[in-house]
Amino acid sequence: MSYQFAERVRIVEVGPRDGLQNEAHTVSVKDRVALIERLAMAGLSSIEAGSFVSPRWVPQMAGTAEVFARLQRRSGTSYTVLVPNRQGFEAAVAAGVREVAVFTSASESFAQRNTNCSITKSLARFEPVCDAASAAGMRVRGYVSCVLGCPYEGAVAVAAVVEVATRLAALGCYEVSLGDTIGIGTPGKAQAMLTAVAGSMPMEQLAVHFHDTCGQALANVLACLEAGVSVVDSAVSGLGGCPYAVGASGNLATEDLVYMLNGLGIESGVDIDGVVEAGTFISGVLGRLPGSKLALARRVDARIGLVR
Ligand code: HMG
Ligand code: MG
Repeated sequence: MSYQFAERVRIVEVGPRDGLQNEAHTVSVKDRVALIERLAMAGLSSIEAGSFVSPRWVPQMAGTAEVFARLQRRSGTSYTVLVPNRQGFEAAVAAGVREVAVFTSASESFAQRNTNCSITKSLARFEPVCDAASAAGMRVRGYVSCVLGCPYEGAVAVAAVVEVATRLAALGCYEVSLGDTIGIGTPGKAQAMLTAVAGSMPMEQLAVHFHDTCGQALANVLACLEAGVSVVDSAVSGLGGCPYAVGASGNLATEDLVYMLNGLGIESGVDIDGVVEAGTFISGVLGRLPGSKLALARRVDARIGLVR
């Protein structure tokens, strides 16, 4: 079977935010900076470096301003932070951030649990953020969570995903990431959902974001590449989950994504050895084995003398 994929895929590395926000062990600012710098060195040009949310809600992301104060930024790399409201946006600007991401959900219950407000209220909070960002010449990325299912409501209607994604685009988000927050999706459903959203806004403005809870993340990405997407979120070493989505296991591992893209002859500009090294570093900090299948396979190969 042969597919017509994009020649180049941009990977949005979300490990330092979506990954570390869900770790029981709070990673120090120094190690967060070291991780982000390794990821940038590996060629990842879009990195979500933290968030300016309530530290009472997500204590792991406290210190994001210090991360930015210490970070040696590479030119050509964009370092994004998540903000839920105007207060987070102002803090991000004060820290020298140049790109932010706003986030809501296709499910009402998840929006309530994650941001203590309805979907409509969350979108209303983004309006002043988008206006202020536009006035400051900053880009805003948008996220829709629970696009293939919700931990509190179960099935989520594709029409709800289309509605929220197009409203984020209308607010001025240059890109909207469609998140399978609990990793419940399978390839056919993922492709159908993406295709439905792309019926109402340009495919070029869409990204996909899969968690690997049921081992479907790479298969879902492949199905979405086949449908024409060219931006994919992933997290080094498969870090992450979401603190407000019980059962959301790690994100798709960046190492495994790059391995598949390389195999398909799709350019990403990412050096796979550099990402494996960054994954080994953060896994060491967290005191566990890497969460990427490729990194684990390489460890075994090294032990028994194989070359992969
Ligand atoms: P709230 O309690 O309703 O907020 O939380 P509030 O406006 O009533 O304010 C209460 C307190 O929070 C006040 O402080 C505010 O100053 C403070 P106090 O006077 O009590 O000392 N506050 C803030 N502090 C720091 N930064 C801010 C901020 N805003 C208010 N920006 C709020 C509402 C939205 C703030 C809260 O619910 C929150 O921070 N939620 C964030 C949760 C979060 O980060 N979740 C994870 C990210 S989403 C995700 O992972 C999914 C995604 O990856 C996609 C996918 O995987 O599918 C994107
Ligand atoms: Mg996520």
